[in-house]
Amino acid sequence: MSNQQRGKLVVGNWKMHGRLAANAALLQAVAQGSGELPADVRVGVCVPSLYLAQAQSLLKGSPVVWGVQDVSAFTHGAYTGEVAAPMVTDFGATFAIVGHSERRAYHRESAELVAVKTQRVLEAGLTPIVCVGETLEEREAGSTEQVVGGQLDEVLAKVSAQEAARLVVAYEPVWAIGTGKSASAAQAQAVHAFLRARLAAKGAADVPLLYGGSVKPENAEELFRQLDIDGGLIGGASLKDQDFLAICKAAAATSVAG
Ligand code: 13P
Repeated sequence: MSNQQRGKLVVGNWKMHGRLAANAALLQAVAQGSGELPADVRVGVCVPSLYLAQAQSLLKGSPVVWGVQDVSAFTHGAYTGEVAAPMVTDFGATFAIVGHSERRAYHRESAELVAVKTQRVLEAGLTPIVCVGETLEEREAGSTEQVVGGQLDEVLAKVSAQEAARLVVAYEPVWAIGTGKSASAAQAQAVHAFLRARLAAKGAADVPLLYGGSVKPENAEELFRQLDIDGGLIGGASLKDQDFLAICKAAAATSVAG
């Protein structure tokens, strides 16, 4: 399948930002702006789980889908403070991010735990957005492929080929997240091609591969034109409706229908 046949996917990761009133304005603006996008550009927002019901009520009937930024590795039980994947399903969600580098770093999530969470998300009928990425130190040591390959392999080892085909994978170099310093289009494409080959070996060559890390209206189109970049996972710029919609429009400019 070609880059264009796969279409484009742009997902906002709000991280721990937002309050009820600000969310309402942002969700309404994104819902409205997304109505003008071609059908082969899909848009989603991953909100703090507390605001899932708000996202559902304001996005229902719009082309924008919603999801969360993490789930528990367990389906239910005595796990104070955790949110289980089936609970997320109750609110009509589509996506759950797993293995974001902020969780791997600040919550000490291992590659194995990320794989278990991926299984829980799949079992709940949701689409996991599995994040992988190397630190600056790892890149400079020449171990980018070893790191991201290892992170992906841990997940692929725990899912069937059919399940692998239901994944979304996001390449997010840790050094590009929130720094304003995106990977160059060539750097990102090289890692995406590597990940695509790994997925192809599992029979899942066509999963959407998103790039994340300082995507902005100014650099989105060049990134999205790369052969193996199927869209973006957007942090800071997803909190501003104009910027987020401009990035969605950049995706449209690189899609078949756009
Ligand atoms: P920024 O777009 O703020 O760099 O964040 C990227 C990210 O971590 C998305 O998950």
